[in-house]
Amino acid sequence: MKPINVGLLGIGTVGGGTYTVLKRNAEEITRRAGRPIRITTVADKNLELARSVAAGDEVKLSDDAFAVVADPEVDIVVELIGGYGIARELVLKAIENGKHVVTANKALLAVHGNEIFAAAQKKGVMVAFEAAVAGGIPIIKALREGLSANRIQWLAGIINGTTNFILSEMRDKGLPFAEVLKEAQALGYAEADPTFDIEGVDAAHKATIMSAIAFGIPMQFDKAYVEGITKLQAVDIAYAEQLGYRIKLLGIARRRDEGVELRVHPTLIPEKRLIANVEGAMNAVLVQGDAVGATLYYGKGAGAEPTASAVIADLVDVTRLHTADPEHRVPHLAFQPDQMQDVAV
Ligand code: HSE
Repeated sequence: MKPINVGLLGIGTVGGGTYTVLKRNAEEITRRAGRPIRITTVADKNLELARSVAAGDEVKLSDDAFAVVADPEVDIVVELIGGYGIARELVLKAIENGKHVVTANKALLAVHGNEIFAAAQKKGVMVAFEAAVAGGIPIIKALREGLSANRIQWLAGIINGTTNFILSEMRDKGLPFAEVLKEAQALGYAEADPTFDIEGVDAAHKATIMSAIAFGIPMQFDKAYVEGITKLQAVDIAYAEQLGYRIKLLGIARRRDEGVELRVHPTLIPEKRLIANVEGAMNAVLVQGDAVGATLYYGKGAGAEPTASAVIADLVDVTRLHTADPEHRVPHLAFQPDQMQDVAV
């Protein structure tokens, strides 16, 4: 089986996780994708880091990401650089060169997604972004596929692991804000610029992306109301607790007669609600559809391997649905019959 060739841009927390999980679970991933997914090139400005992650493997290392998106051998570009600047240029170049793109970059999609998806549609390539929202929770696939029969009425979620971790640690251990933020950074949860986490911007990026899928609207990040957790003090958390509430930073998107409401802010949630008990860097998203009713999705929202899980799921999807010739195409959400495992049930 001819492998599909991947150029990996960025070998930081998520890039490293992606590299590791792809290698560790190669057999299963190959079966699901219908052919091997092979990282042929890793690009990072820190070549030392790239060298240490890929040590002993037959992988090209480069500090020139533009060369990777122009490389005719590369079929799928995985963008894990982050930010709006160079990442936008690289993704647009990759699309222009006819490559599929997998990205975890919520900031890029929330702000430049309309331009990027239009370019991808024109060129007939995929831009997949499961990892951009709620880390390892397959919320994009749930909204797009699992709930596709529904008129979505609203969704609300804890979609930033860093702030949920900070609020949990402040409440449980009485630790100060700044100390817990440092811990979240050390654990690889926080953005390169952690103000995006604590000011609610990261959650707003993710809510913007979910609202686009849920309601079939363009990305409209600039219209979102955004308030983070920096004004909260230990005393607010303690008072909320006395009154039987937990404070959670929620991203909310709701269909209204007038249009769609899009907001991020700290919210008081009665402590008996499931979502009030989502602790640490965990994420949870509630989605209300007219046919299905309320559904809840829960899992790790940040960190190397949970996010890698979503990146690789997209690589599998793109491989089986968009790159195979028809006879090798793996049926959606299933294996080829001859690749079934012989396992007793
Ligand atoms: N900084 C993000 C968070 C990473 O804390 O949730 C995952 O998107």
